[in-house]
Amino acid sequence: MQPPEETIVEFASVSKSFGGAPVIRDINFKVANRPDHGEFIAILGPSGSGKSTLLRLIAGLRPHFPPTTGAVKVLNKPVDGPGADRGMVFQDYTSFDNRTVEDNIAFGLECKGVPAKERKERARQWIANVGLNVAADAQKYPHQLSGGMRQRVAIARTLILKPRIILMDEPFGALDPAIRLSMQDLLVKLWRDQEATVFFVTHSVEEAVYLGDRVYVLSSSPGRLIREIEVPPPDRPAREMQREAEFNKLVFEIRDIIEKLEGSTDR
Ligand SMILES: Nc1ncnc2c1ncn2[C@@H]1O[C@H](COP(=O)(O)OP(=O)(O)OP(=O)(O)O)[C@@H](O)[C@H]1O
Ligand SMILES: [Mg+2]
Repeated sequence: MQPPEETIVEFASVSKSFGGAPVIRDINFKVANRPDHGEFIAILGPSGSGKSTLLRLIAGLRPHFPPTTGAVKVLNKPVDGPGADRGMVFQDYTSFDNRTVEDNIAFGLECKGVPAKERKERARQWIANVGLNVAADAQKYPHQLSGGMRQRVAIARTLILKPRIILMDEPFGALDPAIRLSMQDLLVKLWRDQEATVFFVTHSVEEAVYLGDRVYVLSSSPGRLIREIEVPPPDRPAREMQREAEFNKLVFEIRDIIEKLEGSTDR
């Protein structure tokens, strides 16, 4: 008999209700654990369909965690709360206002008791990894940074801890289009280096199709997983690939699916 395939994240009949009102309903999926290549899952769905809820269930964050029924498993074990194997990047730039860029990025290492000198070196390396300038930016405070720069700090702060699973909730939603494309390129590069599994929520169909290995589409509230679509990997720069006819054809197909959902209610 073959051993069961190891999964990095599994949802088994997961439903969540708040005060009796269903938010997500009977969600089932498995993402295989492939240590040499983490999968990139992009999640699309109408507002209120439970995308943030789904990420927070994986992260083990209350009040979305625990599910009302069903099981959320990471590496075949039920999630029992937050853990170092999972890192989250939110839409609003969640840095500490009273810490410099360097100290924000080093925060997780500080919590783990990494000595100051090593912390500083690794934080500086990550300042460079996310395309910021060590000499110019390390000692700045968040209010001195643009939105794009703050989001680079937020990404560095999470990735420095090398989580196996990276959860990103509309991280580029507030950025202007040009900055957004360069952040997409940066993310592809960092993700390839880290070999992590990524769950990435977005409202942009282009962003989902560009970044994803697979796109999950949730139905309108209460969210069900209604489509899993395999899409070509991002093997060319965002600006280039997102202008190609094949790419745009796929974007329009998925946009049609979502527009139909937004016009329907499912209660
Ligand atoms: N703490 C909470 N208490 C009660 N209801 C909640 C709570 N958090 C979320 N909900 C409800 O759950 C539903 C799904 O919310 P969720 O934030 O997961 O949606 P979403 O798909 O991320 O939406 P958006 O695209 O607007 O971010 C919404 O109807 C919301 O009102
Ligand atoms: Mg949300």
